[in-house]
Amino acid sequence: MSESTIILGIESSCDDTSAAVIRGNKILSNIAAGQAIHNDYGGVVPELASRAHQQNIIPVVHQALVKANIQQSDLSAIGFTRGPGLLGSLLVGTSFAKSLAMSLGVPLIEVNHLQAHILAHFIEDANPVPPRFPFLCLTVSGGHTMIVLVKDYFEMEIIGKTIDDAAGEAFDKIGKLFALDYPAGPIIDRLAKEGNPNAFSFSRPKVEGYDYSFSGIKTSVLYFIQKQLKQNPNFVEEHLADLCASVQYTIVETLMDKLVKASEAYGIREVAIAGGVSANSALREAMKKRQQERGWSIYIPKFEYTTDNAAMIAMVAQLKYERGIFSDLSVSASARYDLEADFSGRENTQ
Ligand code: KG4
Ligand code: ZN
Repeated sequence: MSESTIILGIESSCDDTSAAVIRGNKILSNIAAGQAIHNDYGGVVPELASRAHQQNIIPVVHQALVKANIQQSDLSAIGFTRGPGLLGSLLVGTSFAKSLAMSLGVPLIEVNHLQAHILAHFIEDANPVPPRFPFLCLTVSGGHTMIVLVKDYFEMEIIGKTIDDAAGEAFDKIGKLFALDYPAGPIIDRLAKEGNPNAFSFSRPKVEGYDYSFSGIKTSVLYFIQKQLKQNPNFVEEHLADLCASVQYTIVETLMDKLVKASEAYGIREVAIAGGVSANSALREAMKKRQQERGWSIYIPKFEYTTDNAAMIAMVAQLKYERGIFSDLSVSASARYDLEADFSGRENTQ
């Protein structure tokens, strides 16, 4: 990896505007502006997200350059999230990256957001040592849940995925039933620390192969609390920690079951987690338990590289730069940019 190549990464796929500077595989800065505006709506409002990205992108990029102590003229390339994500949000980062690359006369590099969550493991300080190929990566975020077989940097195969809600979505929707703010995932994680994971039992999905389903858990929680509320209107407030711990336990064990099954079937014990839900403390503990029980080598990224961030975008841009995989200035944002179609920067026209 060239130690002198400095790249700016830009991420705007959902509700975080982020910019990061990388040299080699070392992150020099990683700045993110969240969007509190969505809290009042219980979820991300696409129009508000894209407007907030427009307001945030210039100051966020400026801060990233200042923190990294570099000038625009030091940049070798601009990497940006092309997709998947919300189209209006993606367009802000895409247009900004294109204009900046054009004005600086440097290559433009498109990045698949999901690939970036996975390849974040190769950032210098993400792990004590990076994963070895081939490895399995449980990729869990607000929009996606899948087990990916990572054969090489740009050779990935999805071997299992959710057939309905994503794991993060399940945390957020169940949190809404408990009247928690959006996103509820981190709040459930915090509240669960005081609760008993075996206090309540919720139905576990039965899906074929390595696929997941999370909508049934949400329905099971909904029916359960509706029933309890008839007898005690304060049931949720009075049992919040136990409810959170039990829901978290159900989601985490569901995730782990299929991951263990995939590890056994493929004979792979290099196992990583990635994406926003990989910040979850119970999931991290569950991975450590399998490490001891099954001799797995586990890879849990440093906290700041789990939820949406531009450091992971800059990392992929760096890997593509070394391989000469650049994008044309006519490239457009792609809301449904496919992970598997992007093996080696092959053109994806969707
Ligand atoms: O990767 P990410 O930042 O954005 C997407 O690409 O979707 O993931 C956001 C998701 C949200 O659903 C959020 O509730 C969840 O990650 N999340 C968590 C935790 N931190 C973030 N879920 C459970 N426990 C956490 N600590
Ligand atoms: Zn994400």
